[in-house]
Amino acid sequence: MSWPARIGWLLIALMCLGIAGYASKYLIHPPRTAEEALGNPLGVPFLVIHVAGAVTALVLGSLQFIPALRRARSPHRWVGRVYVLGVLVGGAAGLILSTRSFAGPIATAGFGGLAVLWIVFTLLGWRAAVQGRFADHRRWMIRSWALTLAAVTLRIYLPLVQVAELDFLPWYQAISFLCWVPNLLLAEVWVRWR
Ligand code: HEM
Repeated sequence: MSWPARIGWLLIALMCLGIAGYASKYLIHPPRTAEEALGNPLGVPFLVIHVAGAVTALVLGSLQFIPALRRARSPHRWVGRVYVLGVLVGGAAGLILSTRSFAGPIATAGFGGLAVLWIVFTLLGWRAAVQGRFADHRRWMIRSWALTLAAVTLRIYLPLVQVAELDFLPWYQAISFLCWVPNLLLAEVWVRWR
């Protein structure tokens, strides 16, 4: 890995750890009412299930980009399997939650679209690895990871909305798309450029 790539990876990994630490509050003190779960009527029990799967994917995903770990076949495979499981659990629960987001149908479309693509890209990446198509595996997993990082971009944008004192609801609805569409476009440019 070049030095700029190392520094970039370290910054992203630190942000992932920070978000995972913040999100773990839902695992330590699971919400008992819908109000405690962002006002989402399906928040009990799906928010805890979502966070458990998503945190697993967020923490393990960054490890998969360390070249030394990737060369060690067995750890890469095991970490990868648990990452896929985390995405399936976190994505399925995220899809269920999205149907009753307090921000209505626009947020359902934004988060729901994210959930479906997250699951599909990750399964395509897993299938490519199992079939030994490693170039395809790499491409799909870069796309999957770009979507995992929606958790980070979302929590960069939300405080900005508050600091700029913007109208929260329409911006939350916009962010349900903004948190992942640019990530995916960047990943696409990266995959094609490489
Ligand atoms: C990438 C696919 C993801 C999808 C589709 C998704 C979807 C959702 C949805 C629909 C909600 C409820 C929002 C509402 O009711 O308006 C939510 C909340 C939440 N999600 Fe995700 N999410 C994803 C990734 C992640 C990741 C990777 C994490 C990692 C920590 C995460 C952590 C959380 C947390 C902590 C909440 C509660 C809200 C908060 O306190 O900020 N999500 N997610």
